Amino acid sequence: MAHCDLYIRFERFTGRHELLAQDAALLAAADQALKEAYAPYSKFRVGAAARLSDGSLLKGSNQENASYPTGICAERVLLSAVSALHPKLIVHTLAITYEGDGLSSAYPLAPCGLCRQTIAEYEERYQHPIRLLLAGQTGEVLLFAAGSDLLPFKFSGTELPSLRP
Ligand code: THU
Repeated sequence: MAHCDLYIRFERFTGRHELLAQDAALLAAADQALKEAYAPYSKFRVGAAARLSDGSLLKGSNQENASYPTGICAERVLLSAVSALHPKLIVHTLAITYEGDGLSSAYPLAPCGLCRQTIAEYEERYQHPIRLLLAGQTGEVLLFAAGSDLLPFKFSGTELPSLRP
């Protein structure tokens, strides 16, 4: 038996003003994206913006449904859109922010488990990490070099019989 420790390295900025201009612009696009959220049930709007490998930006937001589990998070809406609309491009950086009726938005949003799993799969497909930029409307910003850093011990297709040699 061995005791093991796991460390996640990430960067912590006191505010958006400390970011590289490109990253601040991507978060600003995520701010715009959350305005397009369809979140009449939770009243919690999430905006995501991706910088693609050709330098272009694409935005996504959460899209809910009266049948609650049918709703889709902003991150997965966006990653599916990138894949469907720009199959030859990859996501280099994904910025995520949020606002909720009557809520403060002063610290970063942690993407849900389904989204972490999805981000990890895209990194696997791309064979390239996706930088993850997390922020509220105000306050500190977190930057992870790879989305999968938030999902250690992730389930990957390599366990599936169809992918075994
Ligand atoms: N949501 C996201 O869009 N992304 C996340 O990472 C967490 C949660 C959405 C789903 C739902 O529409 C609302 O936020 C409340 O859970």
